[in-house]
Amino acid sequence: MSELSKTFGKHSVDEIEREQRIRRVFEAVAARYDLMNDLMSMGIHRLWKRTFVKMAAPRDGQFIVDLAGGTGDVAALMAGPGRRVTVCDPSLPMMQVGQARGHAGVEWLEGTGEAIPLPSASVDTVTIAFGIRNVTRIDDALREIHRVLKPGGRFLCLEFSTPYAPVRPFYNLFSFTVIPRLGSWIAKSPEAYTYLVESIRRFPDQRSFQQLIEQAGFTKVSYRNLSFGIACIHVGTRPADDGTH
Ligand SMILES: C[S@@+](CC[C@H](N)C(=O)[O-])C[C@H]1O[C@@H](n2cnc3c(N)ncnc32)[C@H](O)[C@@H]1O
Repeated sequence: MSELSKTFGKHSVDEIEREQRIRRVFEAVAARYDLMNDLMSMGIHRLWKRTFVKMAAPRDGQFIVDLAGGTGDVAALMAGPGRRVTVCDPSLPMMQVGQARGHAGVEWLEGTGEAIPLPSASVDTVTIAFGIRNVTRIDDALREIHRVLKPGGRFLCLEFSTPYAPVRPFYNLFSFTVIPRLGSWIAKSPEAYTYLVESIRRFPDQRSFQQLIEQAGFTKVSYRNLSFGIACIHVGTRPADDGTH
């Protein structure tokens, strides 16, 4: 058996190495993560996140999980006294930066998208912003999100996507030159930001990701492009009576 085809449980050596690499990336950038987001997107990520939260429409009485919630900025926008909002993320350094900011009404839970440490059919809304790209087994994560949602519950995903063709040359130039340089100067971690650009490039386009969400059992799946398709919000619903979990 070759080294690459070895498995530990159901995970291959490649998958384990990728997970460890991603874990190291976020450990390395945690302290400067939010500043980098502001610089790289010229603040636009804040507008995207506001639109995203508006579409999530958090309400009192709900239990909302922000998966891959990192430093908790999306969770903080959704928090309110009458609802439970939890960040679920495998990176303790990212969550510690968020905790130090004292986001009121936000709870913190260590966990991955592939194994969400919550009971089945317990969550009203699962959000994930710029996180699904980092998940090694996206199919497993989508099934987990479906499992923890209550029937009728909604899943919303904000992610970089495939921009409209005329915008692509400018976007590629920016992402392959400016972003790694900013990563080097500001976050002192050029590898981390090279990883970021590569992971955006590898991620499925709008329609392919919509199909993955549908294959995981979600219905009413739709998407909305932001800033010429540079980012995109996908929405899906766990059907009311799918009889699973
Ligand atoms: C680019 S950050 C996004 C943080 C935040 N949601 C935001 O929008 O700013 C990606 C986050 O995904 C987390 N992550 C990495 N692997 C993950 C996994 N397998 N499951 C869930 N989250 C993961 C990282 O720890 C990191 O906090």
